Amino acid sequence: MTIRNLDDLLAEGVSGRRVLVRADLNVPLDKQSGEMNDHDSASAPQGGAPDGVRIADDGRIRAVLPTLSALVQAGAKVVVCSHLGRPKGAPDPQFSLRPVAGRLGELLGAPVHFAEDTVGDSARSTVADLADGQVALLENLRFNKGETSKDDAERGAFADQLAALGDAYVDDAFGAVHRKHASVHDVPARLPHYAGRLVLREVEVLSRLTGEPERPYVVVLGGSKVSDKLAVIEALLPTVDRLLIGGGMCFTFLKAQGHEVGTSLLEKDMVETCRNLMERAPGKIMLPVDVVVADAFAPDAAHDTVPADGIPSHRLGLDIGPETVAGFAAALSQAKTVFWNGPMGVFEMAAFANGTRGVAEAITKADAFSVVGGGDSAAAVRALGLDESSFGHISTGGGASLEYLEGKTLPGIAALEN
Ligand code: 3PG
Ligand code: MG
Repeated sequence: MTIRNLDDLLAEGVSGRRVLVRADLNVPLDKQSGEMNDHDSASAPQGGAPDGVRIADDGRIRAVLPTLSALVQAGAKVVVCSHLGRPKGAPDPQFSLRPVAGRLGELLGAPVHFAEDTVGDSARSTVADLADGQVALLENLRFNKGETSKDDAERGAFADQLAALGDAYVDDAFGAVHRKHASVHDVPARLPHYAGRLVLREVEVLSRLTGEPERPYVVVLGGSKVSDKLAVIEALLPTVDRLLIGGGMCFTFLKAQGHEVGTSLLEKDMVETCRNLMERAPGKIMLPVDVVVADAFAPDAAHDTVPADGIPSHRLGLDIGPETVAGFAAALSQAKTVFWNGPMGVFEMAAFANGTRGVAEAITKADAFSVVGGGDSAAAVRALGLDESSFGHISTGGGASLEYLEGKTLPGIAALEN
C-alpha cells in the first residue's frame, strides 16, 4: 500500500488551493494557573507568546515547519489545525491555541492568522480571507465534541465541516496518529490526502526499529506507570537484547524482585505481571541497583542514595542512583540501536535529574542509532541542555511511537493508505 506524500501534492500544484494541515501543536505551556494533561514538565521557557502564556518547549512547532514552509513557498493557502491539551469538547480558554499561533508566526517569519473557532464563522472567514502563501491556524479541535467522539456519525459530521475548509489534506501530526479522531481518521476519507514530511520521517525512522535493528538493541523505559508501558514491554521483550527500566515504574519491578519500596510509586496490581515478565526473559531486564530516596516529593526534600534493596519504609524513590547509571551506561555503550522513552527520575527537580541526564548522555556517547520517543523524554533532552543533534532521531510522538513499536494499526496512518 502506498501513501501519497507532500511531494506528490506539490507536484500536482497547490498554488491558490486551500491545504488543510493536521499538525500536533500540543506543546507544554507555562501558566500561572491551570494544569495541562500530562505535560507537567517544567522546562526552560523560550520565545515570546501573547497573553502571558509561555510555550515551555516549542519542539513540536519546529517539527512541522518543513511541511508548512514548503506549502507556503508553493503558494498554497495553508489552514493548520491541532489539538492542545484535553479540553472536554467545549471552548476552554486555558487550552486556546492563540499563543501557539504567535510562536508559529515567529518561526515561519510571517504572521499566522488565528481563527477564534475551529469550523464556525471565524474559521470560515479567516480561511476565505487568506491570500496565496498565507497561513491560518484554527482554534483547538477538541473544543468540538465531534473531534474525539466515539460515535462515527458525530465524528463524521464534524469532519464534514472541517473538510469544507480545505481542498486537500496533509497529515503531519505524528503525535496524534494513534487517535481515532475526526481530524486524523475521518477528514482524510473526505479529501485528497497526503503524509507530511514529519509523519513520513517518523515512520521511516521507527520502521528501522521494528524491522531488523542492528544489534545489540537496547531499550530504556521510564515514566511513572508500568500499566502504560505494559503493551510495549510485551511487544519488545522478544526483540530486544536489553531492556533497562528506570523512572517511577521501576519500583513495581523492584517490589516484584522482593524488595521493599517504601512510599515510592507502586502499582500493586502489576507486581505479578512484572514478576512474569522477568521470568520470561531472564537476564534481559535490567533494574536499578541503587536509588535516590527522599523524605517528600519536593525539590528541596532531604535525600540520599541507597541500595535498591534498602529503601527505608518512610521514604520514596525519585531517581535512579549513580551505580545504576553506570550499569545502564555500560549496557548502552555496547548498543548499536537504542530506543528511549520516559525519564529515569523527576528530572524537573535538579536533585533528581542525574539519572535522566546520565542515561541521556550515555545514549549520545554510544556508537548507536538512537531514537528518543515521547514528549516528556524529548522535553527532558532539551530542558537538560543536551545537544539534540547527538541523537539519531527525537520523535514528536509519545503514545504514537509506543503504539507504532507495539505493531498496532495506527488510525491516522491507515487513513492515509486508503
Ligand atoms: C501527545 O501529547 O501525546 C499527543 O499530542 C496526543 O495527545 P493526547 O494523548 O491528549 O491524545
Ligand atoms: Mg500524551
